[in-house]
Amino acid sequence: MILVTGGAGFIGSNFVLDWVASTGEAVLNLDKLTYAGNLETLESLAGDARHTFVQGDIVDRALLDGLLAAHRPRAIVHFAAESHVDRSIHGPGEFVRTNIEGTFTLLEAARGYWSGLDGAARDGFRFLHVSTDEVYGTLGAKDAAFTEDHPYAPNSPYSASKAASDHLVRAWHHTYGLPVVTTNCSNNYGPYQFPEKLIPLMIVNALAGKGLPVYGDGMQVRDWLYVTDHCAAIRAVLEGGRLGETYNIGGWNEMPNINIVHAICRALNDLRPDAAGDYERLVTYVTDRPGHDRRYAIDASKIERELGWRPSETFETGLRKTIEWYLSNPQWVGNVQSGAYREWVAKHYTS
Ligand code: NAD
Ligand code: TYD
Repeated sequence: MILVTGGAGFIGSNFVLDWVASTGEAVLNLDKLTYAGNLETLESLAGDARHTFVQGDIVDRALLDGLLAAHRPRAIVHFAAESHVDRSIHGPGEFVRTNIEGTFTLLEAARGYWSGLDGAARDGFRFLHVSTDEVYGTLGAKDAAFTEDHPYAPNSPYSASKAASDHLVRAWHHTYGLPVVTTNCSNNYGPYQFPEKLIPLMIVNALAGKGLPVYGDGMQVRDWLYVTDHCAAIRAVLEGGRLGETYNIGGWNEMPNINIVHAICRALNDLRPDAAGDYERLVTYVTDRPGHDRRYAIDASKIERELGWRPSETFETGLRKTIEWYLSNPQWVGNVQSGAYREWVAKHYTS
């Protein structure tokens, strides 16, 4: 079995669902269930012996030691983090605690556990650290996309805390020999994303007839990847990634924010026309985010060359699937917005 941290969040829960469906291997899912963790997403695995959920904090060393000793995973896939840039600007403390101290604690627990393994179990063990392209900082319009050798230059409390965690993971490999691999991925989108991030926020606000807040001039560029493509990339790196290496993951799909907002409006005009008129009427330019990075772009040729991974969704197919998912799941969105999803644990996971 594998240990997944943060497996009730957006990417982690998609990964757990994808992992169980595609490999059949059991998952021990450790998640603190902050505002971003939602077990309702994993409803289809309730009662399935291949999924064990533990509510807990990655900063809790005793909990980690106990779980590793009891479940003896062959790998750790580390998603747990505070992940939203805007929240990191308002309250950076939790980002330092979870992303840096939490990763440090997990590395130490993993090192203790791995040191006690023998033979094939020791050789086969992996610690996969899930990180972001934001650690590289911002690009000019004509700069080449980020390769794995690009210097780190994080600009937000979020990206600085992720950069720090990447450095710890690297050091635990070089100093202690811990068998780590790190992935740095671009912006994800897809089902089950908390509606504070750009794409789900725009869909949910449009359907509610609320303004679509575009920061600054809306010309900031991100590279967008459909979440299940990210999950497949992580599986590929876990199985074939070289120890101590980092792999950039991206969708070969750079786009200015405003184009995304227009694309969402067009799709909604088609799929859920509004009697009040074109959704474009809701677009509202608002004050820019402080320190807002202008452009991210990922060169994902290393992972393709070494591991044969390429994204399978185009932005058109991925965005369509995402919008259709949000249109079909108003209850999930409603529970997330009202906070009712927090009652899910008590109702469905009392053991
Ligand atoms: P998310 O915010 O949706 O989920 C994070 C999960 O971690 C939540 O379930 C939360 O409850 C859990 N968590 C938070 N603090 C914890 C703690 N102290 N102990 C245990 N669990 C804790 O985030 P996401 O978008 O799914 O991102 C997952 C990972 O992928 C993060 O490490 C993030 O940096 C990285 N990443 C995200 C993106 C993106 O576009 N969302 C892109 C690249 C990399
Ligand atoms: P976000 O989804 O928060 O991801 P990140 O900051 O990690 O890239 O934001 C994506 C882009 O969209 C980013 O340039 C900020 C912008 N944005 C808006 O213009 N309006 C919004 O309401 C949000 C949430 C983001």
